[in-house]
Amino acid sequence: MALHLNSLTDTFTLANGVQIPCIGYGTWQTPDGETTRDCVKMALDAGYRHIDTAFAYGNEASVGEGIRLSGVKREDIFVTTKHWVTERGYEKTIKAVEASLKNLGMDYMDLYLVHWPCVEKLTPEWKELNAETWRGFERMYQDGKIRALGVSNYEQKHLDPLWETASVKPMVNQLEFHPGYTQMDNILYNQKKGLLVQAWSPLGSGAVLNNEDLKAIAAKYNKSVAQICVRLALQCGILPLPKSTNAARIAANAEVFDFVISDEDVQTLLTFPQLGFSGYSPEDAPADALAASLAE
Ligand code: A2P
Repeated sequence: MALHLNSLTDTFTLANGVQIPCIGYGTWQTPDGETTRDCVKMALDAGYRHIDTAFAYGNEASVGEGIRLSGVKREDIFVTTKHWVTERGYEKTIKAVEASLKNLGMDYMDLYLVHWPCVEKLTPEWKELNAETWRGFERMYQDGKIRALGVSNYEQKHLDPLWETASVKPMVNQLEFHPGYTQMDNILYNQKKGLLVQAWSPLGSGAVLNNEDLKAIAAKYNKSVAQICVRLALQCGILPLPKSTNAARIAANAEVFDFVISDEDVQTLLTFPQLGFSGYSPEDAPADALAASLAE
């Protein structure tokens, strides 16, 4: 239930003992440059200590700038970035880590995730390619460039083969999760194996926020739908990564430690009719991702 969490600096513990602040600030689709830099600083000013970016977001350098501008010490901030689909394989992965570190202006990252699994329809050697990429992850982990390793958008059929070949097991799986799209079977499978699940688009990219049934639940707690979404993830032991480009909303999205959603409402929220689904699934990953990886 994760009810031991009382503030943005409280943590989940990963399988290797690394502590990860319980709400991350997401930066997907946040424009590179001033916007990302200023938003990251706003999030740190509001007390967030965990920032999530990706090579593919194109804003790693601005994330690094925002962190330095904030004046918060590097070691007090948890920084995640992600490996992109064009960089699969051992050697390319090593170079990808170095490139992301250079973009961020940092000498280590806290968490590195495989952004999307390679899947069968891309190549019959998808399992081997995922294993080779992972070897690159392990190498950089052993070299101290990365403090924790994970995947994103992995289903059981992608995770199981990786589990067999990995000497350092994935510690995190970042999945789309919000009322209206919860992937509960996959989440429970990951949690049973000891992975921490993170929620991307915990607000359904904003698409769930105007739903009248969700508004009615939120009103019972005197909270916004966004706060209900963030709290729901925490109560399910899932680490949410809400994003906003607005200072007041950035702060409000983290005001979730002063109420508890009832078990009955949690069930309603987890079984809500489909709403706000991104349309992205690993076997049918974003068209640009597929095109990019096939072009290699
Ligand atoms: P904005 O940047 O204008 O605040 P998700 O985290 O699921 O990807 O959702 C992000 C989207 O939700 C963004 O469009 C963001 O817009 C919007 N959003 C974030 N927080 C709130 C909030 N508290 N109220 C309304 N919209 C929000």
